[in-house]
Amino acid sequence: MTAIKVGVIGYGYWGPNLTRNFYELPTSELVAVADQKEEQLKRAKARYPGVELTTDYRELFKMGLDAVVVSTPPKTHFAVAKDCLLHGLHVLVEKPITLNSRDAEELIQIASDKGLTLMVGHTFEYNSAVLAMKKYIESKELGDLYYIDTARLNLGLFQRDSNVLWDLAPHDISILLYLLGEDPISVSAQGIPCVIPGVYDVAYLSLIFPHNLTAYVHVSWLDPCKVRRVTLVGSRKMAVYNDMESEGKIKIYDKGVVTPDYTNGFGEFQYNYRSGDITIPNIRYAEPLLQECSHFIESIVNHTEPRSSGRAGLRVVKILEAAQRSIAKSSTHELIQW
Ligand SMILES: NC(=O)c1ccc[n+]([C@@H]2O[C@H](COP(=O)([O-])OP(=O)(O)OC[C@H]3O[C@@H](n4cnc5c(N)ncnc54)[C@H](O)[C@@H]3O)[C@@H](O)[C@H]2O)c1
Repeated sequence: MTAIKVGVIGYGYWGPNLTRNFYELPTSELVAVADQKEEQLKRAKARYPGVELTTDYRELFKMGLDAVVVSTPPKTHFAVAKDCLLHGLHVLVEKPITLNSRDAEELIQIASDKGLTLMVGHTFEYNSAVLAMKKYIESKELGDLYYIDTARLNLGLFQRDSNVLWDLAPHDISILLYLLGEDPISVSAQGIPCVIPGVYDVAYLSLIFPHNLTAYVHVSWLDPCKVRRVTLVGSRKMAVYNDMESEGKIKIYDKGVVTPDYTNGFGEFQYNYRSGDITIPNIRYAEPLLQECSHFIESIVNHTEPRSSGRAGLRVVKILEAAQRSIAKSSTHELIQW
């Protein structure tokens, strides 16, 4: 198999991670890196001396590439990704795919018309811990899910032209959609602008899924502790995925509460708390970004829809739009139009 020729657009904070993976993968060949800033290109040159470098990503169209990775700021995703698709290139675009659903729909349409792969960088959908959590849900090991709670908190990185909802919540929303395999019905959200007027640095979302399942998402750029956690609370067991742990990222708690079927009187009424073993499953961990990059190449070669396809990106954007509307309307429950 000949390697898929890849160019990376945007070599800031995240671009170098994508670049490294496409450089190392045997199924891809890193041909070029584009970044508007010369100093970023100098960093790329030091690391990959043989790779073409340009400050104008349109130069990539003359280099015989098969695919590009768009790792520029979200407000540029639509224009850059559209240009690349129109020039016949497969596109892996970082999250969020676009800043509104109309633009995401247009990208999906162009990719479909041209028979190109459009994928979004929902990295957690390629994370072995998230894959394991999905198995625990599907096998009913946890029983019926009562609720899900996610927390993605840190101090920084503040951005003026975005907010924490569009920056961090795409990760948790993509995790939830992947874990549950269904779309939420509505969302209500609260956003708190603390440091920069009008820019939410803290947000809380509640997403109502079918069968009355609620998922709570807490994202923050303004928290003293770095937290990356997903908690699943089921009728039989509970599971916690803590991405900050280097080992034992998932713990299964055989804990719960049993309500009595009947009582003879108030005095006899009591709940039984069950507190059993805590187990740490052994999960073979592979770098999620490597899995993601490899999946992109496989989707191109096999002409298959990627797991985190353009349509998956669109679903996340629709939820973010509804959450943004909810924040503007003092946390109303906003129905999501699918
Ligand atoms: N999947 C993940 O876990 C993850 C993590 C971090 C960031 N991201 C995403 O990656 C993307 C980039 O984020 P970042 O933190 O690296 O941003 P950044 O600002 O550090 O880097 C962006 C780079 O893009 C360059 N750029 C901007 N417009 C360009 C253009 N038109 N042509 C060429 N270069 C251009 C800038 O000069 C900059 O070097 C964002 O979409 C972000 O949401 C994803």
